Amino acid sequence: MSNTSISKATMPKTILITGANAGIGLTTAELLVKEGHNVIIACRNLDKAQQAQAHLKSFGTGQVDLIQLDLNSLTKVNHAANEVLSKYEHIDVLINNAGLISMHLDATEDGFEKHFGVNYLGHFLWTLKLLPLLKNAEQGRIIHLSSIAHWGGSIQPEKFRAEKIQRYIMFPSYGNSKLQNLLFSNLLAKQLAGSNVTSNALHPGVVDSELYRQLPKLQYMFVSMALIPPSKPANQIRKMALDADWAHKNGQYASVQTPALSSAKSKDMQLAQKLYDLSYELVKQYL
Ligand SMILES: NC(=O)c1ccc[n+]([C@@H]2O[C@H](COP(=O)([O-])OP(=O)(O)OC[C@H]3O[C@@H](n4cnc5c(N)ncnc54)[C@H](OP(=O)(O)O)[C@@H]3O)[C@@H](O)[C@H]2O)c1
Repeated sequence: MSNTSISKATMPKTILITGANAGIGLTTAELLVKEGHNVIIACRNLDKAQQAQAHLKSFGTGQVDLIQLDLNSLTKVNHAANEVLSKYEHIDVLINNAGLISMHLDATEDGFEKHFGVNYLGHFLWTLKLLPLLKNAEQGRIIHLSSIAHWGGSIQPEKFRAEKIQRYIMFPSYGNSKLQNLLFSNLLAKQLAGSNVTSNALHPGVVDSELYRQLPKLQYMFVSMALIPPSKPANQIRKMALDADWAHKNGQYASVQTPALSSAKSKDMQLAQKLYDLSYELVKQYL
């Protein structure tokens, strides 16, 4: 290996993570900061985010920046993305991690069902806005946090808006958003094939984080039997973000804890294109 390739491989990367004030996002950020990378945490709750920033700064030599991002509002996503575009010339890795589970039917500021709006559509706009910065990197990587729950999801455009939903059940609604994350990852991978940017997704395992905070006790008891620590998915995300053997992987689905099997629906590129086109219509005023 030449000196130039050694220095390129070890050069600090600029890595942007959404929802990095807790859970998998925070643990991943910790790992990356410890290795000397520059991490930008994009978080909703500013108090928690400032605490996370101080915590992360105590670990390493890398820079830890904070951008306020609320995926619950397309206007706020647009604003946060514009801030990133004005501050940075390139991003090496974008980790779309933020997400929630909502036990009750709820709407975003724009009237979308919460899982669709926060877990998927906000990240859709965010990613399209930031794509030029990934293209400016020597090699850009986008990582989407999907879930094994995508198996229970389907694409139902008539239910994108909260007011159209008559009967709400949490699990398929969350699963829909995780299928949307995966279809988006796969479509981006197709669009970006041959470019310097890749798009991959993962199921992080059933992780001990704040995600399940709203679950009723009995359901939580069931889930808690399988919980793994956030360090496990953080290690997998780190590999996808930085390892040489992930440099040319594109359109892959990785999985921690279970075999990396994705559903037939998630591989349906016509469905992925349909979802992309519908989503584009919903956010195009910001692009
Ligand atoms: N934990 C699991 O078992 C599991 C399994 C499969 C997939 N996943 C996926 O992994 C990702 C990370 O989850 P986690 O387990 O680490 O959950 P977590 O501990 O609850 O962390 C979720 C993060 O998302 C942020 N977030 C929520 N709503 C937001 C919004 N409107 N705008 C911006 N940020 C927002 C939270 O910020 P606040 O602190 O401000 O709420 C928090 O930082 C999610 O996409 C989840 O779907 C997790």
